[in-house]
Amino acid sequence: MAGPGMVDLTLRIRRFNPDVRPDPWWEEHTIEAEPNDRLLDALHRVKWYQDGTLSLRRSCAHGICGSDAMLINGRNALACKVLVKDVAPRVTVEPIRGLPVLKDLIVDMEPFFAGYRSILPFLVNESDPGDRERRQSPEERARFDDTTKCILCAACTTSCPIFWGDGEYVGPAAIVNAHRFVFDSRDQAGKERLAILAEKSGVFRCRTTFNCTEACPRGIKVTQAIQEVKRAVLFNRA
Ligand code: SF4
Ligand code: F3S
Ligand code: FES
Repeated sequence: MAGPGMVDLTLRIRRFNPDVRPDPWWEEHTIEAEPNDRLLDALHRVKWYQDGTLSLRRSCAHGICGSDAMLINGRNALACKVLVKDVAPRVTVEPIRGLPVLKDLIVDMEPFFAGYRSILPFLVNESDPGDRERRQSPEERARFDDTTKCILCAACTTSCPIFWGDGEYVGPAAIVNAHRFVFDSRDQAGKERLAILAEKSGVFRCRTTFNCTEACPRGIKVTQAIQEVKRAVLFNRA
């Protein structure tokens, strides 16, 4: 029984360790936590006091680094942004879907980053900026403000059924990051990016399912960004 002001939380965790068993299995751990603790704190308590073999990624613990995206009660979220009081007395935790699981909650992010790299996620401008920085009006800056907020957590891409079923689709996170540069008035590689996204692995694989928008912990309008990029590809506008 939890002490005063505390709650019991049972974590049902999907485990995987190819060195121990060929298939995944479920394990349950019950810990005591403060209601305002994050789920990440609860996972730490399991790892530090009950089973040191539990593996997970995390770094900042404040919703910035994007490393602790996981499937929490069937929805993608950052464990550091979910409060114990919102899931107690029981929560199910699994690795994000659509990427190979390496161990427990850790997936191989390389296919995700390959999609990200494919859209040239950097500013391209060979012209001489002169003795001042390249200037931009507030309106020009606002055009791509939403998509600058991406933290590359992969919650969107790994919630997308098209991505699960098709290893070729670059996925919503890559398109969000293409949007960030395609609509940047200082960038000169928009047409190149749009040509990449017009290919069969690109934007037209999206079936407007909206899972990505629901999953984004940064509140980015992911599906809207994808629609804007689709229109830019169709009308060759960058
Ligand atoms: Fe994560 Fe949102 Fe970026 Fe997708 S768009 S990687 S969900 S921050
Ligand atoms: Fe997938 Fe999002 Fe499109 S979930 S189908 S990328 S709207
Ligand atoms: Fe950095 Fe959660 S640990 S976003």
